[in-house]
Amino acid sequence: VFEPRNIIVTGGCGFIGSNFVHYVVENHPEVHVTVLDKLTYAGNRENIAGLPANRVELVVGDICDAELLDRIVPGHDAIVQYAAESHNDNSIADPEPFLKTNVEGTFRLLEAVRKFGVRYHHVSTDEVYGDLALDDPARFTEETPYRPSSPHSSTKAASDMLVRAWTRTYGLRTTISTCSNNYGPYQHVEKFIPRQITNVIDGVRPKLYGTGENVRDWIHTEDHSSAVWTILTKGRIGETYLIGADGEKDNIAVLRMILEMMGKDPEDFDWVRDRLGHDRRYAIDPTKLRDELGWRPQHNDFAEGLRKTIEWYRKNELWWRPAKAATEARYKEQGR
Ligand code: NAD
Ligand code: DAU
Repeated sequence: VFEPRNIIVTGGCGFIGSNFVHYVVENHPEVHVTVLDKLTYAGNRENIAGLPANRVELVVGDICDAELLDRIVPGHDAIVQYAAESHNDNSIADPEPFLKTNVEGTFRLLEAVRKFGVRYHHVSTDEVYGDLALDDPARFTEETPYRPSSPHSSTKAASDMLVRAWTRTYGLRTTISTCSNNYGPYQHVEKFIPRQITNVIDGVRPKLYGTGENVRDWIHTEDHSSAVWTILTKGRIGETYLIGADGEKDNIAVLRMILEMMGKDPEDFDWVRDRLGHDRRYAIDPTKLRDELGWRPQHNDFAEGLRKTIEWYRKNELWWRPAKAATEARYKEQGR
């Protein structure tokens, strides 16, 4: 078992990274966290505000900045890499920042890992495997070939390839996790679930892409955090682990749940233009993570998790309000 004491969490002011920082602070009192985050439109220092200053330090900076990495990496025993451009629709409108952060940023981190010999965990996504047909009984496993569809997922796949090559060639101590769709607090209002919740709060009809039959495999972000911690500390070096919690749902079902939970007619939404190249279905077989490392998700009731997430957005309007208008303006340009 690897026992880290001083870790860098890149992208720790984003949705999933900040939830991981909260998780570590609450569950591992012996660990100090340095958050490295560029604070793009998706990063918000409020996400980690209020955490004890002796446990969490924020360094505002870019993972592409090699000199900065040379300064801050020494003295740490691990890097957990969450920093990324993460939104598919943005990658279709303008792919360039995805190449820069997701590919070059990972390259810079790997070079720092090589130089300073620290443990590295790379947070990736199930989208690298492409999609499955709606009627295919199969799920993704660690053996599924990489077949990304979008500019975003192709850059995530490229970054995974760099990690594997650096691991084999230079003997780095790395692991990769490919997780399915997360939901929970602090998710940016551009993403499906928060966008629809905040639309309903604003009296705007939710927007469903295409036929709404696309399936996503939902996992609560806290379960993603516990899985990443398990892999960081107990995972076998050089391995990839899929993370998922048996949460397959089609988009229309999720949208109707949100509407009903918020006291609206479940048909009270707009059908909008489909996403280009829209992946049909993601589905994770998490057997390896469960059997080999003994990990189990705690949030097994999606309806309950969704209800709490709706509550969180109702209570935290001050947090999401500043991003809402600009996000909807971007969608309007795309006809959505
Ligand atoms: P997010 O967009 O909410 O947050 C990304 C964070 O990275 C932000 O805080 C941003 O400021 C920071 N960042 C961006 N570019 C940076 C750079 N060059 N240098 C330093 N910081 C930078 O993303 P998220 O949804 O929290 O996703 C986090 C990670 O988890 C990503 O790697 C993503 O691919 C992966 N992932 C996401 C999901 C999901 O459902 N959202 C599922 C599986 C894996
Ligand atoms: O599977 C993991 C991936 O999950 C991560 O790699 C990505 O970083 C993350 O953004 C997420 O990607 P998706 O494209 O699946 O998530 P998104 O929230 O953008 O959309 C979820 C589904 O909902 C997708 O089928 C598109 C649809 N959708 C989305 C929006 C924003 C709508 O129908 N209406 C919407 O307004």
